Amino acid sequence: MKNITSKQLRNAWIKFYEERGHVNIGAVSLIGDGSTGVMFNVAGMQPLMPYLLGKKHPKGTRLCNVQGCMRTVDIDEVGDESHFTFFEMMGNWSLGDYFKKEKTAWTFELLTKVFGLDKNKICATVFEGNNSAPRDEETASLLLDLGIKKQNIFYQGKADNWWELEGTVGTPCGPDNEWFYPLTDNECGLDKCDINCVCHRYIEIGNDVYMQYEKLDGGKYKPLSNKNVDTGFGFERMLMFLNGLTDGYKTDLFSNVISYIENASGKTYLNNLEETKSMRIVADHLRTTVMLIGDENSLTPSNTGAGYILRRLMRRAIRHGKSLGLNCDNLVEIAKIFIEQVYNEAYPLLIKNEQYI
Ligand code: ALA
Repeated sequence: MKNITSKQLRNAWIKFYEERGHVNIGAVSLIGDGSTGVMFNVAGMQPLMPYLLGKKHPKGTRLCNVQGCMRTVDIDEVGDESHFTFFEMMGNWSLGDYFKKEKTAWTFELLTKVFGLDKNKICATVFEGNNSAPRDEETASLLLDLGIKKQNIFYQGKADNWWELEGTVGTPCGPDNEWFYPLTDNECGLDKCDINCVCHRYIEIGNDVYMQYEKLDGGKYKPLSNKNVDTGFGFERMLMFLNGLTDGYKTDLFSNVISYIENASGKTYLNNLEETKSMRIVADHLRTTVMLIGDENSLTPSNTGAGYILRRLMRRAIRHGKSLGLNCDNLVEIAKIFIEQVYNEAYPLLIKNEQYI
């Protein structure tokens, strides 16, 4: 599928899972509640942790949403084509309900029927097994039955096919099944131009985690009473991929903002590396600023904690804006584009908080 808008992709994800009995639980605050020791929500599953560990969720056992996330470790990478401080994760969950059979079939159906991917090109990775958990032959054989080619299924170790939140204990985790697709049919010429090739011909488009374990102290794992599924597909990445783009700033999440910056600065996107980097930093950091100030637990810039991260983002946006010749009014206009044009439907709270932001 080509030429899908961000609004269409968001709706397609939710519709597909609602039609399969899931309740759209919406997104929660971007700002961490302190229970996991992190300042921001870093993954779609983070707010669901108690339920993945066995607590009953008020909305049932099949859930879906598109959740805003923030990863500050990537701040210094922003400026390239695909790193963002704020991003969204399309997710769906089974809390002790369905497991591998349904999940592999639904992801396969979504990719091939809704998004039109060729099943002969889809590649998948599964966990090769270790002392903590067995080799995931079950998922591999389900993938084969669905029609994925044997040579396109790869077994990999913990570094690649095990999902857990680093630096935490008492949190749910498990082996995962990652999905890959080639960006081009042309092999690069190296010996084995597969999913792990250094030429990056393949892109990882999402993963299904089979959360069956609780992570304990000392690198040990305890089986959970519930067998859960935790699916995460990066929204920005999927939007780029489906539209045949490798530059996230060319998607409709950013294209109006980049055009505005071009007009206001008199500079052309992709003309000069430093200027392009500055344009991306202004766009990324202002988007995150809008999201953090307009959040239900609104942040303000400060000298400590999460507020300090916000201050740094704003400061950097202003500095890079200045280097492009933008003034304060221009930055406010950029914020307005995000609020009024890009996130008006998905984040009505931003519209409500527009004056304040
Ligand atoms: N929790 C998994 C992820 O964030 C789905 O990728």
